[in-house]
Amino acid sequence: MPKVVIDGKEIEVAAGTTILQAALSEGSEIPHYCWHEGLSVAGNCRMCLVEVEKAPKLVIGCYTPVADGMVVHTQSEKVKQARAAMMEFFLINHPLDCPICDQAGECKLQDYAVEHGTGVSRYTEPKLALNKAVDIGRHVMLDQERCIQCSRCIRFCDEITKTGELAFFQRGERSQIGIVPGRRLDNAYSGNVVDLCPVGALTLKEFRFQTRVWYLKNTPTVCAGCSRGCNVVVGVGQQQTLMTTRGQMDDRVKRIVARSNEAVNGPWICDEGRLSYQPGAAAKRLDAAESPAGTACDWDAAIEKAAGLLKAAAAKGALAIVASPRLTTEDLFAWRKLAQGLGGATFAVRRLVRGEDDRLLLRADKGANATGAEWLLGDTAESAVLDKAARGEVQALLVLGDNLDPADTLALDPGVRARIGAIVFAGAFVSGTAESATVLLPTTAWAEEDGTIVNFEGRIQRVRRARTPWGESRPGWKVAAELAQAAGAAILPWTRFEQVLDALAAEVAPYAGLDADAIGLLGTAPASAGAGA
Ligand code: SF4
Ligand code: SF4
Ligand code: FES
Repeated sequence: MPKVVIDGKEIEVAAGTTILQAALSEGSEIPHYCWHEGLSVAGNCRMCLVEVEKAPKLVIGCYTPVADGMVVHTQSEKVKQARAAMMEFFLINHPLDCPICDQAGECKLQDYAVEHGTGVSRYTEPKLALNKAVDIGRHVMLDQERCIQCSRCIRFCDEITKTGELAFFQRGERSQIGIVPGRRLDNAYSGNVVDLCPVGALTLKEFRFQTRVWYLKNTPTVCAGCSRGCNVVVGVGQQQTLMTTRGQMDDRVKRIVARSNEAVNGPWICDEGRLSYQPGAAAKRLDAAESPAGTACDWDAAIEKAAGLLKAAAAKGALAIVASPRLTTEDLFAWRKLAQGLGGATFAVRRLVRGEDDRLLLRADKGANATGAEWLLGDTAESAVLDKAARGEVQALLVLGDNLDPADTLALDPGVRARIGAIVFAGAFVSGTAESATVLLPTTAWAEEDGTIVNFEGRIQRVRRARTPWGESRPGWKVAAELAQAAGAAILPWTRFEQVLDALAAEVAPYAGLDADAIGLLGTAPASAGAGA
């Protein structure tokens, strides 16, 4: 493996590694615009110029592979002068509209101007005036005059989605970014061009002017939109001045962006996952305990009532449970413990398969934790439980997480409903099942709780709490523990998710030896599906 000296420090890297990658791998930054880890090398911005001993002139770090014995200087006077000259060049036409630009706070032009620019411009001619706020797609707006022509967005549409909607038009100083005539940027991954635009030329309609990025609290977590489990960062508003009607601080999710994980999603996510937090993407939330549905009820009284119903049904062998494959493994484990403590139940897991997998990331299986659910509960289909209910063999039905929805499964036929003594619904959203429930216990939704989920390849990853739980809702594992206590079943004395994870790791084979730290930010290497409990 070649050894290279970068700013006096010798490092050994794999053959073919570029100077830029070598520098990044040992934690030193070479400024760059056009290079992006997920795209081909364009080498057109010239911001990554470095000095290589014995080379006749400066070279671009993003394109030049290291050679054994190479000595690189990234901070020499020549390099600094070249960077300052490039910054002066970039700022010839770029408008200084930072106060109203949504990229302010995470703009590479702003950052590099401060770090590497001269702070002055010798340019006296008028700047090019191009189009502002051009609507180029369902989710993306273009401010043409902010573009520094790095071509990242063009390469994304050519190389990743292979849809080719974007291109440069004109030549030389009149060159400008634009959409191919007659086209729209409406592919299923269009939001990624916003993430990768280093300046504010491409912005997301849903996030524009919502908040300044420095007001966001960013939490690394995993998308629960499908069984891929893409790594994301959830940004939650932190402005104290904005109060919701509930009198709480405004801590709503303001945006979701991709987080790079080579083993799962690379640097990309789909638009569906990116916008899954939008009002309209989800049904109305359940606020407080109800018994029966529509009748407000004290939380403890609702727990008492639900525990009594479940216990009586379990004693007669007539308790059935339908769980969502979106619940965290900790939730599913706690519900399984509850069922065992009550003396047993028929467990089924919902199937949430819609359409087909696409060739990039999206999976037809929308059960983000379908693999974890199968590890814990086997693969009995919901229809088996509903058939049992139709035969009048279910006295109490505990529905966890999702509605029994005709779009996904067999609808809960009114005739079948009439044969089920009681339904206890523990979930986050208003639904037909929730409305027909005897007792309703609101649980936390994605972004409100800590836990783990297992993607379709068997990779165990952590979801993290990014915002405070809605209304009275509590994590599913906590509700299960409270029900167990009220029913006099084996008490599950858990108050933190880590305790549930410890208990899970002690019982469920693929989780053996794991804790939150071991799972870390990028998850574990896939465990074999079907490894079982
Ligand atoms: S719009 Fe942004 S990503 Fe596209 S070429 Fe211009 S600066 Fe680069
Ligand atoms: S591919 Fe699936 S997991 Fe990834 S962002 Fe889209 S919905 Fe979320
Ligand atoms: S990052 Fe190397 S030329 Fe643009």
